[in-house]
Parts: sequence; structure tokens; C-alpha cells
Amino acid sequence: MSLDELRHLQTERLRVTLRAAYEHVPHYRKAFEAKGVHPDDIRTLDDVARLPLTGKAELRENYPFGMFAVPREQVIRIHASSGTTGRPTVVGYTRDDIDTWADLMARSIRFAGGGPGDIVHVAYGYGLFTGGLGAHYGAERLGCTVVPVSGGMTDRQVQLIRDFGPTVIMLTPSYFLSLLDEMERLGLDPHDTSLRVGIFGAEPWTESMRAEIEGRTGMDAVDIYGLSEVMGPGVGQESAETKDGLHIWEDHFYPEVIDPVTQEPVADGEVGELVFTSLTKQAMPVIRYRTRDLTRLLPGTAVPAMRRMEKVTGRSDDMMNIRGVNVFPTQIEEHVLAEPALSPYFQCVLRQPGRMVELTVLVEPHERMAEADAATLAHRLERTIKRRVGTSCRVEVRDPGAIERSMGKARRIVDERAKR
Ligand code: DLL
Repeated sequence: MSLDELRHLQTERLRVTLRAAYEHVPHYRKAFEAKGVHPDDIRTLDDVARLPLTGKAELRENYPFGMFAVPREQVIRIHASSGTTGRPTVVGYTRDDIDTWADLMARSIRFAGGGPGDIVHVAYGYGLFTGGLGAHYGAERLGCTVVPVSGGMTDRQVQLIRDFGPTVIMLTPSYFLSLLDEMERLGLDPHDTSLRVGIFGAEPWTESMRAEIEGRTGMDAVDIYGLSEVMGPGVGQESAETKDGLHIWEDHFYPEVIDPVTQEPVADGEVGELVFTSLTKQAMPVIRYRTRDLTRLLPGTAVPAMRRMEKVTGRSDDMMNIRGVNVFPTQIEEHVLAEPALSPYFQCVLRQPGRMVELTVLVEPHERMAEADAATLAHRLERTIKRRVGTSCRVEVRDPGAIERSMGKARRIVDERAKR
């Protein structure tokens, strides 16, 4: 598709979406009127910036079904994401939405290096979370053999990989680390499995983590992005050929990046908060939905007409402010992974004994270390983090296996400040 064709398609689809949102979702009508805009005022994609932003709060206020643009009877599937507090965010899909989603996930898996005939092991959770069923329908649509394992029972996952010979695996990168450890514990060299491609997402992960995973397995590790409010997985996908960030499926989702403070759009190439307007969703169109994810838009490569997003650095909610320095767990991850003696598991613990916030980074070695060696390593890592990230912290070397393992999204930040 040429850029002109894409822009034309987006503009047409935007027109339909805005009209549906305005006519059928009272929240959008009110929000448009409060801003003094009408769908007819939005003639080009640049006009999107004139529309009101939508956040999780608006979705919660309209819990459970108030954001639907179609009668509830036409909604054939519900998913929900649990926030850290309060009500979950509910999303709905019409039959066409489920169909579009399957197409986009099939496109994503193909882009990641999968194809018809592949055996796809899905270890994203099945249920209200969009990961499992999203991956499942996409893999079926592509013509793969799907193994719907869901998360958990790690030893059984390894057995199924050994017995069924999957070529593609889909799960969070942190859970894949646990799987790799389990394989090694059971005497299976991860290089010897049938796995060729790993499609990892649902949480931030770094280039260093890619190097770690590819080095330990010989697979291609590629990134998949999405969020329930906008669809689920398959909003953006990294190409196995270029591994240079995620192409956004712009024919279905119109991206913007805004300054999270002023809320003004920033130019492509500048970092800010990613915002999406859905272009084809029927049951629950979203207008300028604030993802809280920080990244920047880059020109297309593998698909020239569609822009890429750089790997997500983190969510604005996951930004730790350590005495004025903004720090994301991904920045810590890079330096932990650069230490060969350390396993890739780590956690950032925030405490506030007095007036000042303190960051402690918990790490664990592959094998138990002598106390003096652990102290040397901890000091070295503290100095590197100080120099490269800009924050002081304390590094604590725990015993091998001591850090919490995830079966889905890893908990990288433990905030002990809330505890009195
Ligand atoms: O995590 C959907 C998904 C499932 C994506 C499986 C990819 C694979 P939610 O539970 O609504 O949906 O969480 C969405 O997860 O706003 C990001 O903060 C984070 N996230 C998702 N993918 C990535 C990624 C699913 N590739 C939230 N890199 C998003 C970084 C990601 N963060």
C-alpha cells in the first residue's frame, strides 16, 4: 500500500469511527461538545489533534458497558484488564472486530517469521486477559497448529515443547526466562528444541534481553505490542527481518505521540506518550486513547508506508522518581544483563525511611557467590547505574532463585513506601 492510499483509507475509516462514537457513545458526544468539535470538523488526519483525549478514568466511569457503540447483543466477546486499583477496564468486540483482530494477529505472526504449518505454543494467559485468545485466533487464522497452553505449570510447558515440537512460541519475555530455566533444570538444552521464533510482549523488555534470549536459544526473539483498550496484542509487531522496533498497523490504529504534561502532539522522532485512535473497531471505538506507554514514532522500514514505534521504554506509571531522576526498570535491566554472573531476574524496591526515596535493586547470581565477590559485583553495578542511569541505588545480591518469578507480566517494581 502506498502512503497516499494509506492516508486515504485512514481518513475514510476515521470518518466512520468518529460518527459512530459521536452518535452512539454518550461519553464521546459530551467530550466532543465540551471541546467544541463535531465529527464533521475533522477532515484530515492532522485534525485528530483537535479531538478530546480519552483515558482509563473515562473507561472506568462508564463501567461496564457504557463505552459500547453497538447494542450489547452484538458484542460477542468481552475482555478486561485489571488495573492496580478499582474496577477493571472492560472492552467488547463484535463478530467483525474478532475477525479483524484475528487477521491482524495472523499478519503479526507472519511478520514475526511464522507461517502456515507452524506449530504455535501459546503461553499467554487465556481468559479475560487478551494475550491468550488474541494469539490463538491469529495463529489459527494464519493456518498454524495452535497449542493453547495458557500460563503456569512450567514443567508441563517444557514437556509439551519437547513432545509437540512447536516452532513458534508466544508469551511474556519474563515468563520465557522461567521456561528456559526449567528446560535447563530438566536437562534440555534450549538450543536443541524445535523453537525457531519467540513472539514476546505484554511488558517492556530491552535489546539486552533480546541478546540474552537469542544467545541462550538460537531463536529469533521479536516484540509484539498491544493493549486491551485498543484491541489486545497485534497493534504493533516487530519484523523478524529487521528487528528494529514495532510497525504499527496503521490501517487500523492511528498513532500520535503527545507530551504527557502539556498533552500537545510532538513531532515524529520525539519521545512522549503513545495515543491511539481506532479506525475499524465497531463495539468499542477509542478516540485518542492515552496508553501511558512512552516511545517515539519512526519511519517505516519493512513496511514503508506504516510507521514504527521504538521498543517501549516503560509506562509513565512505572517511572520511578528517585530524588529528581526519572528511572525505568528497563534502564536497570540493561545493566543487570551486562553482568555475566547475574541471572536476568531483578526487582526494584522503593523505600522511604525518611524524607528521601531510596532505590534498592535486588539481583541474583546464576550460582551462589562468595560474600566478597557479591560485594564487589554489587559495588560495580551501583557505580554503573550511577554513571549511566544517573541515580544512586543500593544493589543487593540475593541467593539464586530468590527473586519472584513471573508467569505473565513481571513485577519489576516493589513499592514498599505504601506500607507504613
Ligand atoms: O498486554 C496485550 C498484549 C498481550 C500485548 C500479549 C502483547 C502480547 P493489557 O493487559 O491491556 O494488554 O496491557 C497493555 O502492556 O499499555 C503496555 O504498557 C504493556 N505492553 C504490551 N505490550 C508491550 C510491549 C496486553 N511489547 C499494556 N512492550 C500496554 C512494552 C508492552 N510494553
